Order: sequence, then structure tokens, then C-alpha cells
Amino acid sequence: MSIDWPLLRAAAATVAGQAYAPYSGLRVGAAGLTSGGRIIAGCNVENASYGLTLCAECGLVSALHGAGAATPVTPAPATATATPPDPPALVAVSIVAGDGAPLLPCGRCRQLLLEAGGPALLVDTAQGPVELDRLLPAAFSGTDLAARRETT
Ligand code: THU
Repeated sequence: MSIDWPLLRAAAATVAGQAYAPYSGLRVGAAGLTSGGRIIAGCNVENASYGLTLCAECGLVSALHGAGAATPVTPAPATATATPPDPPALVAVSIVAGDGAPLLPCGRCRQLLLEAGGPALLVDTAQGPVELDRLLPAAFSGTDLAARRETT
């Protein structure tokens, strides 16, 4: 799939304009390309109780899930054995500040993006796209959780 980085960055800049950031003054927009070819976006939303702030990437990942599966499925009659569609995935993201230039995701959001796009997720930076694996090496993931969980 070809990635239109200028379009993705422009989408991030547009949604940054919708951010609610009266406390930090740093508006952030995040736009992502899904495996289904859709562009989705999110912005940061701050709160007077500072710790409740939602990063732009939180909105993006929520929108990703809200957008549904990568391949639209024809509604089928519900059966007891019906399996849910694969969760949607991100293939590329651009995160920018209000000035329109790339902003590297915070640590928590790197972890959030990992689960939404995997280690090969392409992240826009001022030096060009890089795989998320380079920004979050040796990451903890659901694989570790499954392997190390203690069952009772
Ligand atoms: N912020 C994001 O939206 N994403 C990041 O990856 C880094 C930080 C926001 C959160 C807060 O509203 C503001 O930037 C200052 O930290």
C-alpha cells in the first residue's frame, strides 16, 4: 500500500486545530492510515485535573476501533459460532503539533500504538518515516503477557 505522507501530515495538522489544550498550550493532532485504506484522526484533550489528559494518539486509537474492521463485512445472521472480525490495524501514523511539524509520541503512546499497529508501524518524523520498533525497542506486548501469565 502506498502511503501519502503529505496527506497524512495534513490530516494530523487539521485535527490538531481541534485540540483542547488550554493548560499546556500544546495542541497535538494524530492521523493514521488503516490497513483498510482509511484515514482516521484524533487530537489531545486536556482536563483541569491534569492527569486525566488524553493524548492525541488516544483519540486516534479509539477512532481506529470505532471505524471497525479493515474489510467491511456484509451483515450476516448472528450464529452462536460467529467469530468477530479481525480488529482494525494502523499501517502509518503522523503526529504533529499545532505548528504542523512532526512530534514524537510520548512513551505511553508508543506502547498504545504498538498494539494498534505492531512493531512495523511507520511513524512520521522530521527525518522521515521510521518503524515503531526503533522508537520502542524491546517492547512488552501481549505475547509476553500470554507467555508469562500465572494461571491458578
Ligand atoms: N501530547 C500528545 O497528545 N501526544 C504525545 O505523544 C505527547 C503529548 C499532549 C498531551 C498534553 O495535552 C500536551 O501534549 C502536553 O504534554
